[in-house]
Amino acid sequence: QKGGYKHFMLKEIFEQPRVVADCLTGRIDRETGSAWLPELEPLPAPERLFIVACGTSYHAGLWGMYLMEQWAGIPTRVEIASELRYRDPILGPGDTVVAISQSGETADTLAGIQLAKARGAKVIGLCNVVGSSVAREADVVLYTQAGPEISVASTKAMCSQLTLLTLMALVWGRKRGVLPAEVAAKCLPALEALPAELDAALPGMRDRAKALCRVYSEARSFLYLGRGLYYPMALEGALKLKEISYIHAEGYAAGEMKHGPIALIDPKFPSFALAPVDALYPKVKSNLQEVQARGGKIVALTHPGADLDVDHPWEVPAGWGPLATFFMLPALQLFAYEMADYLGKDVDQPRNLAKSVTVE
Ligand code: M6R
Repeated sequence: QKGGYKHFMLKEIFEQPRVVADCLTGRIDRETGSAWLPELEPLPAPERLFIVACGTSYHAGLWGMYLMEQWAGIPTRVEIASELRYRDPILGPGDTVVAISQSGETADTLAGIQLAKARGAKVIGLCNVVGSSVAREADVVLYTQAGPEISVASTKAMCSQLTLLTLMALVWGRKRGVLPAEVAAKCLPALEALPAELDAALPGMRDRAKALCRVYSEARSFLYLGRGLYYPMALEGALKLKEISYIHAEGYAAGEMKHGPIALIDPKFPSFALAPVDALYPKVKSNLQEVQARGGKIVALTHPGADLDVDHPWEVPAGWGPLATFFMLPALQLFAYEMADYLGKDVDQPRNLAKSVTVE
């Protein structure tokens, strides 16, 4: 069932173009040219949003926060489910909670849903497995339609979560009358173009990942750096690397580096930067100069036309606006995958981990 791929993880990474297409299926109103999520129609657009999840799904939620705020004007908090469940959060009727879970069986996320419901909040479940506990407990379910994810390391599920969060921000932004005109005009055509562009880019990304992991296979630790939308991606890149290759990695907001982690930088402690050419590019670039000044080696995911003078600039297609993320994410996944495979690790079944964490 691996479809000719060596591991499920690799197969699932390469399925991402199809995952984006499937997630969009039936969710674009051709008459108005806008995103359409019939499940959300009966609900008013939220005034305040809590996103609750664990692991990779939490990183997807953190990314979604940027779009919910910028496109839909909804104040959004993103919470790690195991933290939310033991706090006394200010949450009640009128609030909306989006619980994100690939499996739909994560114990802490389910507890977060129960807490939200007990306090009278509306819960929207965003999950992949049809009929799962999250799907049953939520008031409204949006399926990510990514197909079964076998590898313990979540890849294509995150891609589908990002797609769905993008659609939700479009729907709510429009409903609230605040969706920026440029986003309304450009986002859906760009999303629809994504599968073909991603398909074309993935083989080259894999080759680059394979070559790079051989250069860095001796590293004992990596610092992943990003800003804005790419801060959650830095967290995700670090999580992927540590969970399957067992190389320690930390994801950090690039601007936080000088508040501590910069002390770690030396020629044996490489950084993996997310440096898209966007409004924050000059800021990330100057963070990377600080790393270089301390002898730190750098791999930097960036875009064509970037003027980064780092050890290993890695250009990926830019796409439109925040959708650039959809090219950065598989590059991070492939780097972790190739590293784990090169080091001879059990890629699909990493030690100490289960696919769904059904106990706390
Ligand atoms: O099924 P869920 O999305 O609720 O799972 C959440 C995490 O357990 C999961 O994303 C985990 O972090 C993955 N192994 C990451 O690759």
